[in-house]
Amino acid sequence: MSDSARHPFLQGLSKHRGTPPTIVVIFGASGDLTARKLLPALYNLAHDNLLPADFHLVGFSRSPLPDAEFRALATKAVRDFSRRAPHTAVLERLAGRLSYVAGGYDEPAAFTRLAAHIAELEQRLGGETQVLCYISTPPSVFGAILHQLGACGLAARRLDSPLHTKVVIEKPFGRDLASARALNAAIREVCAEKQVYRIDHYLGKETVQDLLVQRFANAIFEPLWNRNFIDHIQITVAENLGVGTRGGYYEQSGALRDMIQNHTMQLLALTAMEPPVSLDAEAVRDEKVKVLRAVQALALGPEGDTARAQYAAGMVGGKMVPGYREEPGIAADSATETYTALRLSINNWRWQGVPFYLRSGKRLARRVSEIAIQFKRPPGTLFAAAGERFALAPNTLSFLIQPDEGLSLVLNGKVPGLETRTQPVKMSFRYAATYGSDTPEAYERLVLDALTGDGTLFIRGDEAEASWELCTPVLDSWRELGRQGMDTYAAGSWGPAAADTLLARHGHQWRQP
Ligand SMILES: NC(=O)c1ccc[n+]([C@@H]2O[C@H](COP(=O)([O-])OP(=O)(O)OC[C@H]3O[C@@H](n4cnc5c(N)ncnc54)[C@H](OP(=O)(O)O)[C@@H]3O)[C@@H](O)[C@H]2O)c1
Repeated sequence: MSDSARHPFLQGLSKHRGTPPTIVVIFGASGDLTARKLLPALYNLAHDNLLPADFHLVGFSRSPLPDAEFRALATKAVRDFSRRAPHTAVLERLAGRLSYVAGGYDEPAAFTRLAAHIAELEQRLGGETQVLCYISTPPSVFGAILHQLGACGLAARRLDSPLHTKVVIEKPFGRDLASARALNAAIREVCAEKQVYRIDHYLGKETVQDLLVQRFANAIFEPLWNRNFIDHIQITVAENLGVGTRGGYYEQSGALRDMIQNHTMQLLALTAMEPPVSLDAEAVRDEKVKVLRAVQALALGPEGDTARAQYAAGMVGGKMVPGYREEPGIAADSATETYTALRLSINNWRWQGVPFYLRSGKRLARRVSEIAIQFKRPPGTLFAAAGERFALAPNTLSFLIQPDEGLSLVLNGKVPGLETRTQPVKMSFRYAATYGSDTPEAYERLVLDALTGDGTLFIRGDEAEASWELCTPVLDSWRELGRQGMDTYAAGSWGPAAADTLLARHGHQWRQP
């Protein structure tokens, strides 16, 4: 037998017994995310033999694509974007399980055709299958698709069985509290919460999941994880790129909507939540919602808990780059922030008095995402010369989420020599060095979890609303202020003076990771 014929996916076996027979439907199948992330993720699951033996993928979008063209598009997408070189026979077999339905997202006849196609596929596969609908269109049509899924009967398939229809919804989930509530209401009209998987791809990242393991699988952290030992926490999601060709989209969004409301708030919830009673989806998400609800409303205004800014021209990688308002598609008087910093207080027993500083921006000095736990300073008296005050460096535990996933701990150590001099030293662990760099991409984990009905790494409806409840008053106040109070920062720097002042008022300063 040749190597390729021995591959289990080719023999119709699945080692992942938890994945039931499935028909996946991708809405927005002609789009960018489908090509760059979803099709490569499905290929890699097939490669790892994690797709069910009875599997089929239907692409749905408005572009007229014959099946053969969709297969060619999918094959090219996998070749261009898969994290590993595709195995020709596995790719061919996957491509053989693809078909395409063209239609409008609000066109009842197209959904009737889709439902009939699914019924026919199920018959061909020879047994009961679940349907997983992945909505990967712009958010303007999320509501229409949900409505049509309800009207054509697909949403209500096998509701009382584990083979019930599952619906994955891409971000952004709303643009403020009212629209998130409206989207949740549109979902509730056609689906139960257990059917819905709201994506935040940050939750699929290894280090984000590792945060739960580090916190709850080690005895040394949990006793220190509170206001008695922690001084403050900084969560950074920094990009070094500008808006590029996405100016039109970004003008309607900004850093608070694009990064803080979703990714950064998720990191905050995982860092600050109480230990769940189990790793069951509801138990974990109950704790995340609880902690988000314990966050105090932010103080708005000049001496408040927020800072915002736009990048000005500056040097990035040795090259001069334009400022935000000089980028294509951006209004000269734009009031959209490319940088946001927030100071959050959590009103509960564990965190009372510990500030959580969140920041995210474009065109910053480096692309880096991290959570830094800064512990209280130890007393320096032992190491001070007589009559001197001496501040030892605080211990800092950092979870590095991207680009070099890992963990580091800063400790004070003795500098070798005849005198006793202390110096901060770093203990580091890097994923790539320990486990190799072949870790699955976030979308692989998330698609597999949705296929197997595990919602732990997805956002529940009440969680999305809790996060919007915190962010919406900030957005409202900024909208009223327009450009008033908008700071600037040079591209390639670590952000605006307003953000430094925000921390300085509380005796802290930003890290430069
Ligand atoms: N791309 C990413 O890296 C990324 C990352 C995270 C999240 N997302 C989210 O994932 C979703 C899909 O992203 P994407 O980049 O793939 O989007 P996209 O390429 O702009 O759109 C996906 C497909 O939707 C259809 N479409 C585009 N504009 C439309 C409109 N105004 N009305 C109705 N249909 C429209 C198009 O297909 P037809 O014209 O053939 O119907 C298009 O191929 C979005 O919600 C996005 O926010 C994307």
